[in-house]
Amino acid sequence: MQKYQIKEDIWWVGAIDWDVRDFHGYETPRGTTYNSYLITDEKMALIDGTRKGFGPEVLRRVRSCCELSQIEYLVINHVEPDHSGDIPWLLEQLAPVKILTSKRAREILRWYYGTQVDGWDIQIVGTGDEVSLGKYTLSFLEAPMLHWPDSMFTYVKEAKVLLPNDAFGQHLATSKRFADEVDMNIIMDEAAKYYANILMLYGGQVQKIIAKVAELGLEIDAIGPSHGVIWRRPEDIKRIIEAYVAWSRGEARQRVALIYDTMWHSTEKMTLAIEDGIAQEGVEAVVLRLGRTPLAEVARAVLESRAFLVGSPTLNNTMFPTVGGFLTYIRGLRPKDRISGAYGSYGWSGGGVKQIDAELKSMNLTVLPPLEFRYVPTEEDIAACVEYGRELARQVKEWGQERPEAS
Ligand code: FEO
Repeated sequence: MQKYQIKEDIWWVGAIDWDVRDFHGYETPRGTTYNSYLITDEKMALIDGTRKGFGPEVLRRVRSCCELSQIEYLVINHVEPDHSGDIPWLLEQLAPVKILTSKRAREILRWYYGTQVDGWDIQIVGTGDEVSLGKYTLSFLEAPMLHWPDSMFTYVKEAKVLLPNDAFGQHLATSKRFADEVDMNIIMDEAAKYYANILMLYGGQVQKIIAKVAELGLEIDAIGPSHGVIWRRPEDIKRIIEAYVAWSRGEARQRVALIYDTMWHSTEKMTLAIEDGIAQEGVEAVVLRLGRTPLAEVARAVLESRAFLVGSPTLNNTMFPTVGGFLTYIRGLRPKDRISGAYGSYGWSGGGVKQIDAELKSMNLTVLPPLEFRYVPTEEDIAACVEYGRELARQVKEWGQERPEAS
């Protein structure tokens, strides 16, 4: 099989999932990869398992670099099933190996794979622990909640290669392995979506781990995440780390995301009028209709926009189901430092906008007064929507003057 070398004796031996379009609810139009890495040193180590069904592809790639019987260590940085689903099968194919993993990962392995785990040869490792392979040393750094309690980074010291599992990843299937070989706009598009949907709620932990890497003085020649392409050019490494710093701080563009659904087009008319008001103030707006826009894209728009409004008609005294689903999802992702607001139309009783307003307030956002109209917005109502958009845009511009902008 095609061999992919990162550094001398360090190989990518992952699997490419061209087909996956739904990753536990996260839409993945470009597929993904499950990245494993192999170090063919005096002692050989396989870093990270793979998703159930992808083990044979990983082992075919391993066999192109060494004999399976030569592998002495399996590092498990993270137990989520996209990286551990085929570990029981892999262990049957390999000669007895020592598993290097965190204490929390061992506990989670036991939850997933039961009593067989008791028979596995597991060495618990934590921050600062090192294992020598010969010319290379594996150094471990626990990264709890990036994005599970067990998450861990492996650093190949002498090669200056960081293998941080999910961090810095992208759901992107490609036959190219390095960021500098693929359109950077696509990579950053997928990296932002990945951060929004997997890591947005863990901004504090992201900042801590980046500070820890700096404190330890780790020099980095390459970052090999568990999904997508590998970062190796200094400017690309700088770019993704700076993006993580900005996202974790809640920095965003001077932009408003209008997230809505509509029944008989009244909330849609309001949406377009608000968008017009925002545009009149020279601020960018993006309009996203729920049910037609993948939720992962909507979450990314929230990550990248200083403000987001949520619009819904009232249906049976409540908000539209698509809007309810979005609010549940985005509440879990905990966007911070955002201006928000609720708007929509109703017929006789109302209720939907009030519910959205309460939801937004519970998320600790800066929430504008709600805006709602009966049945079909009149010309005066449309004018009020335009003014609502203008006022929001003015607030976004003021906010932007006080805070740094993410690129
Ligand atoms: Fe790629 Fe958290 O698994």
